[in-house]
Amino acid sequence: MPSMFNARDADNYERLMGRWSRRLAPLFIDHAGITAGENVIEVGCGTGSLTFALLQRAALARLTAIDHSEIYLAAAKAKNNDPRISLERGDGCALHFPDASFDRALSMLVLPSVLPEPELMVAEMRRVTRPGGVVAAAFWDSPGGSPSQRMLWDTAAALDEAAAEARDRTVGRPIYMPGALARMWAEAGLVEIDQRSLMIRMDFANFADYWQPFASGEGALGAYVVTLSDGARDRLEHYLRSAYLTGRADGARSFVAVALSCRGVVPEA
Ligand SMILES: C[S@@+](CC[C@H](N)C(=O)[O-])C[C@H]1O[C@@H](n2cnc3c(N)ncnc32)[C@H](O)[C@@H]1O
Repeated sequence: MPSMFNARDADNYERLMGRWSRRLAPLFIDHAGITAGENVIEVGCGTGSLTFALLQRAALARLTAIDHSEIYLAAAKAKNNDPRISLERGDGCALHFPDASFDRALSMLVLPSVLPEPELMVAEMRRVTRPGGVVAAAFWDSPGGSPSQRMLWDTAAALDEAAAEARDRTVGRPIYMPGALARMWAEAGLVEIDQRSLMIRMDFANFADYWQPFASGEGALGAYVVTLSDGARDRLEHYLRSAYLTGRADGARSFVAVALSCRGVVPEA
């Protein structure tokens, strides 16, 4: 399965990202649209931030949510008591559903980690969506719209050449380049394409609240942090603490986080 997402522990994911993807979900739903009675597929549901928000927003007929991480799926299943939601293991690049099975195909915070070809997932989302249906996805603008991530990547890169390489491999993916997302939608044959930015704030209680989720080893940054020796990790933490505190006492800090969001319609035959 073509994914580079480093899924290890569902509770750590919640602290690292789930708490923020729950904030993003209503904004993404506003952009992607949703209507009562629809049959929807969500690709890369993880622990269910978008999944449960969709059912709160609209009386869907059915929601099929797929992910390839058994660990995250188990956490989502433990939270689910809605028979309209089906949580299934699967690969978003090879969906096991017939053509035109769904009214809408949605995906949040997944595409950049689908390597080497996120286009495969977009093509599959389009294939399983009926003519006139909507395909939409959103993910953090990691290079330009995510200062809390960049702070860690750039601090690490200044200390360690391997981190600079990991940052450039991750944050430098072509999907983040200006215009790339809407172009991907057009190349998948979607029409009425609309790309925009969605913004939330990530509010941290203190430095530990910011740092611990990375130190836990989850996600791309976590995967880098756990490779470090104790000394190298302490050095990174020291400089990162200074960047977080900016000379003031430890406590709450708030960072914007911007997601790129794109939607398009499957043309009528
Ligand atoms: C950053 S998490 C996002 C989870 C959730 N959508 C959210 O917003 O919190 C990325 C998710 O995509 C899943 N994923 C990555 N590549 C996938 C693929 N090819 N097929 C299915 N799921 C995939 C990962 O397992 C992970 O759960």
